[in-house]
Amino acid sequence: MHLLVTGGAGFIGSTFVRALLTGAYPAFAGAAVTVLDKLTYAGNPANLAAVADRPGFRLVSGDIADAALVRELLTPGSLVVNFAAETHVDRSIADAASFVHTNVTGTHVLLDAALEQGAGRFLQVSTDEVYGSIDSGSWTESSPLLPNSPYAASKTSADLLALSYFRTHGLDVTITRCSNNYGPHQHPEKLIPRFTVRLLAGRSVPLYGDGRHIRDWLHVDDHCRGIQLALERGESGAVYHIGGGTELSNRLLTRELLATCGADWSSVRHVADRKGHHRRYSLDDSKLRALGYRPRVEFAEGLRATVGWYRAHPDWWAPRAAYETPYAPAGGGHPASVHPPK
Ligand code: NAD
Ligand code: DAU
Repeated sequence: MHLLVTGGAGFIGSTFVRALLTGAYPAFAGAAVTVLDKLTYAGNPANLAAVADRPGFRLVSGDIADAALVRELLTPGSLVVNFAAETHVDRSIADAASFVHTNVTGTHVLLDAALEQGAGRFLQVSTDEVYGSIDSGSWTESSPLLPNSPYAASKTSADLLALSYFRTHGLDVTITRCSNNYGPHQHPEKLIPRFTVRLLAGRSVPLYGDGRHIRDWLHVDDHCRGIQLALERGESGAVYHIGGGTELSNRLLTRELLATCGADWSSVRHVADRKGHHRRYSLDDSKLRALGYRPRVEFAEGLRATVGWYRAHPDWWAPRAAYETPYAPAGGGHPASVHPPK
């Protein structure tokens, strides 16, 4: 069995690959794994160091939009797990071009190559942001797609393309849509690692708007377990939600992080809101639960362990935290994106 894992040097993809190659998913024991990753500012080969010597593993540096390269990496029957994406909403507000390139064109190129090479299942890793924002209740897999940010619109486009390859060409496509992830190895542009590393360094944290926006948090290990289950047992042409079950406003989450890092509310800076900021996300994940999915990591324990990981690994995050993504400054508006070197 061969898996092509795109974006496998990023936060979630590398967690999936480490788990797979250390035997966490018996259905994929002994599989050969090719990671294809462009190694953008978000990709880091060090995330894969723990499994770099495993038999059957290789890391290829390249773009999922490079048709010749992806055709070469796929063999008949290869399974594709497409994690590769530009993922940060704030960056998509500052400049959406790379989001269209990777998330839309890149996914299209991969789908074409999978079809041409006779690949097996194509699992598209997607997000709850495709539905927009929901004030109460939860989305089901058939809720209308109403993305707002350029990031969400590009992920929605990729989902629609993937489903069109199932409906038109019969490609074996399955999509997972997940809520907000947290855990080790997440780039410090995202809320939990950004606040953690800033607080550990004695710095202030920027809370957007009124801080009452709600997110549903899931440990990255649980997300990856959901992906492997959908890859193994999901229906062809189906979408599966992977939910967190821990809904928190950003204010409440900030309070938890302040307590865990030994800081108080004087470290919080209220800054102008993100443009088009989604108020709340909530997924009904009963469809995947019917296949046996259950999140295992309790939030308080997962958060404590995650902060502990960042505390123990300044060498991992310091070079990344030095290059801030834009946040909404007091007075409004988003400054231009700051792209760190690779
Ligand atoms: P990440 O930003 O940490 O990693 C993305 C990876 O993709 C990086 O290694 C990067 O180098 C690589 N990449 C970017 N452009 C590429 C290209 N053109 N070709 C090849 N590789 C490329 O992202 P993440 O948080 O690990 O997210 C992984 C996937 O999960 C994404 O598709 C994202 O939309 C989805 N998702 C993320 C979350 C979350 O909370 N982080 C939640 C739901 C879904
Ligand atoms: O819901 C899934 C999505 O979760 C994924 O598809 C995205 O790839 C991932 O980045 C994440 O998107 P969010 O926009 O929800 O994540 P982010 O960490 O950027 O922000 C979480 C919340 O915290 C959001 O309401 C904005 C707020 N925030 C964020 C940052 C970075 C702040 O208040 N201050 C900040 O500095």
